[in-house]
Amino acid sequence: MNILAIESSCDDTSASVLSGDRILSNVIASQSVHIKFGGVVPELASRAHQQTISQTVEQALEEAGISLSDLDAVAVTQGPGLMGSLLVGVCFTKGLALANDLPIIGVNHMDAHIYANFIEHQPEFPLISLTVSGGHTQLELVREPFDHEILGKTRDDAAGEAFDKIGKVLGLPYPAGPEIDKLSKQGDPDFHDFPQALLHEGLDFSFSGLKTSVLYYTQDQTNDFLEEHKADICASVSKAISEVLIKKLERAVDQTGVKTVVLSGGVSANSMLRAKTEEMANRKGLNWYAPHISYCTDNAAMIAITAKFMAQRGRYADLEMRPFASV
Ligand code: KG4
Ligand code: ZN
Repeated sequence: MNILAIESSCDDTSASVLSGDRILSNVIASQSVHIKFGGVVPELASRAHQQTISQTVEQALEEAGISLSDLDAVAVTQGPGLMGSLLVGVCFTKGLALANDLPIIGVNHMDAHIYANFIEHQPEFPLISLTVSGGHTQLELVREPFDHEILGKTRDDAAGEAFDKIGKVLGLPYPAGPEIDKLSKQGDPDFHDFPQALLHEGLDFSFSGLKTSVLYYTQDQTNDFLEEHKADICASVSKAISEVLIKKLERAVDQTGVKTVVLSGGVSANSMLRAKTEEMANRKGLNWYAPHISYCTDNAAMIAITAKFMAQRGRYADLEMRPFASV
């Protein structure tokens, strides 16, 4: 089965071709227009998707060596995400489907982050998924494909949002997650104890207090001190975020007795989070998986693999399908 998948839920325009079990291409056009605003500007994101979607899809087909007539289905992110951005992908896909008489598959972006783990691995069900991205932070029990139960989620900022907002406070460019990760490797994670909200309580998360705490902490320091200890502060922030994520993941495992855990979403690229997951999994005798770095942040390959699983279950949409901004 050959599937062309399109992702446009936020600020990356992406197209991917999957053939059988293999991803043949995964083209990602990232939008640099948001950098100077320190965050995604929805209207600019939709405009940029409009400008790049055709060439992104053409490139994905070309790299895969697949033509439109070879396709069996087209898949698209249906939501959640920014409505204007989603509309660009959904309308484009409907046009392609209509013109080429192809069935459509509407994919849930959050499911797709989880199933990104299946591009290169075969995690066993049931599993616990920790999805950590710029827009979401949630723990899910996945009993079998598409049988998901949300066990906990963030009450305010998402983990990626916390990295990005704290990065802004520290004068780092948007998105700051990857930069904080890089600097953390040269810093001391025990340099400063930042708060870990709700650590001893349930499976929900809260990261807005951490951001405020970093803001107050930096306001009390001189510029020289902040420059000298940038890596230490980054490492301490990474520790505060990853420890609370792992603590909740471990609690979810204890509560459910599930033996497999998967990470997903942009923040699952974080090296400290991965190291701590590995340590916890080894200590508890669990199997753990995380997607290849290129499949952690938003990409259409994860939409393609999820679409394949949906097609196998006959879960097709039609031309009436509409995007949804939130679940
Ligand atoms: O999944 P994603 O591409 O988009 C959403 O669906 O939100 O996640 C983007 C988020 C950003 O907040 C970015 O800073 C964060 O993932 N991120 C990281 C790393 N790489 C990306 N955060 C921490 N460490 C990283 N290595
Ligand atoms: Zn995402």
